[in-house]
Amino acid sequence: MRGSVFYEAIVREFQPQTIIEPFRVRSVEPIRFSTIAEREEALRQAGYNPFLLHAEDVLIDLLTDSGTGAMSSRQWAGMIASDESYAGASSFYRFEAAVQDIMGFKHVIPTHQGRAAEHILFSTIAKPGDVVLNNTHFDTTRAHVEHVGATARDLMIPEGRQPRLVHPFKGNMDLDALRATIAEIGPTRIPLVMLTITNNSGGGQPVSMANIRTVSEITHEHGIPFFIDACRFAENTWFIKTREEGYAEKSPIEIARELFSYADGCTMSAKKDGMANIGGFLALNDDVLAARCRNLEILTEGFPTYGGMAGYDLEAIAQGLYEALDPHYLRYRIRSIAYLGEKLTAGGVPIVQPTGGHAVYIDAREMLPHIPPVQYPAWSLNNALYLLGGVRGAEIGTVMFGLQPDGTEQPAASELVRLAFPRRTYTQSHVDYLAEVILEAYAQREALPGYRIIEQAPALRHFTARLEPVR
Ligand code: F0G
Repeated sequence: MRGSVFYEAIVREFQPQTIIEPFRVRSVEPIRFSTIAEREEALRQAGYNPFLLHAEDVLIDLLTDSGTGAMSSRQWAGMIASDESYAGASSFYRFEAAVQDIMGFKHVIPTHQGRAAEHILFSTIAKPGDVVLNNTHFDTTRAHVEHVGATARDLMIPEGRQPRLVHPFKGNMDLDALRATIAEIGPTRIPLVMLTITNNSGGGQPVSMANIRTVSEITHEHGIPFFIDACRFAENTWFIKTREEGYAEKSPIEIARELFSYADGCTMSAKKDGMANIGGFLALNDDVLAARCRNLEILTEGFPTYGGMAGYDLEAIAQGLYEALDPHYLRYRIRSIAYLGEKLTAGGVPIVQPTGGHAVYIDAREMLPHIPPVQYPAWSLNNALYLLGGVRGAEIGTVMFGLQPDGTEQPAASELVRLAFPRRTYTQSHVDYLAEVILEAYAQREALPGYRIIEQAPALRHFTARLEPVR
């Protein structure tokens, strides 16, 4: 037992149990408080669609963790000192060096956000009739695969589909299914295999190092490139560190370097673990593929040393990637999500277990059995959270996925409300407040109404649909 030299006789070192926010706050953004009557009116005017609310009418905004976090004083310092040269800016070289240091890829192609990297990659590598494999494609990834006439197939392990089942790496790819699918389709029609870490559409669940390594071995045996959707790679390293044997003593950056060493490239939305408000990139090793991607980048994003970003965005990301790997930050980040999850579970609220890296997902199908899927239980719960406490989450259910290309409606596989945490933005008392609001919605659950859609777009309807409660 060590103690202070001076007070050795009376004071022993101790390990505090409280995990504090690893930052001080130096600039604040006031929250606008509102009454339930004001929120009811705001919701009515928004067609009962939280996407159509004015953000200033929201108290705690958990719509997404994408681009909504707070930047550090060092990021702002880098932004002020940025180089805005059109070609060859020093900000680009700092950005490129950071990506290469952490991810190890030879070519770094900046883009304005993650989906632009996906657009360039899939337009270059995939063609009609091809099949792309992933643990679970994120919506924009799937859309870009399908945009070039290829098919997107999800091969997550079956444990990942059981909300209440506790498993350390629910984002893993099913390796038998991967082998079987390669045998079925043939490697020539598979332009690449991807792993999304963490697996956003599967509940923000992590992928283990062992799974990443084996997916890499299987794909490379067949000559298929292996890419990582790296949006939340830093959060994934923390789960590997704390849950996978052999990694407890490794730092997040060492874990990141190892996991990227198994891949041929990655796509990245820097709005997540780049800790920036905008930006992204595509990084890869293949010289020929990189040259083709850069040609398309010039057409759609800009010159290859800025690619749709300002010099100051490149600076913010160069610094942010390292801050996302700070163990104190990651401990606090993952703990905040787990803390809310524990409070909800103790209060009986059904959530996806265990909690993932960036969000808590409430199971509205289980919580609101009186509302049929086609009256959108997760939508109803999300609106109730707004009415009761000014909290905005996102429905991941039948409004988002139920409308079929032929115009019919099918219940989605699950009805979830995703509460995604912006990075470094809310404190523990915000989370305590959140838990109180959700537990109140749970207490009043039997009174929550279903909804019907009165106006909708033919695709991606959740963004703009107008609804009304079914009374
Ligand atoms: N891949 C994953 C796993 C994502 O979560 C996202 C974005 C993207 C790619 C696309 O990146 O938005 O920079 O173009 N996810 C956000 C979300 C929108 O709310 O989950 P982008």
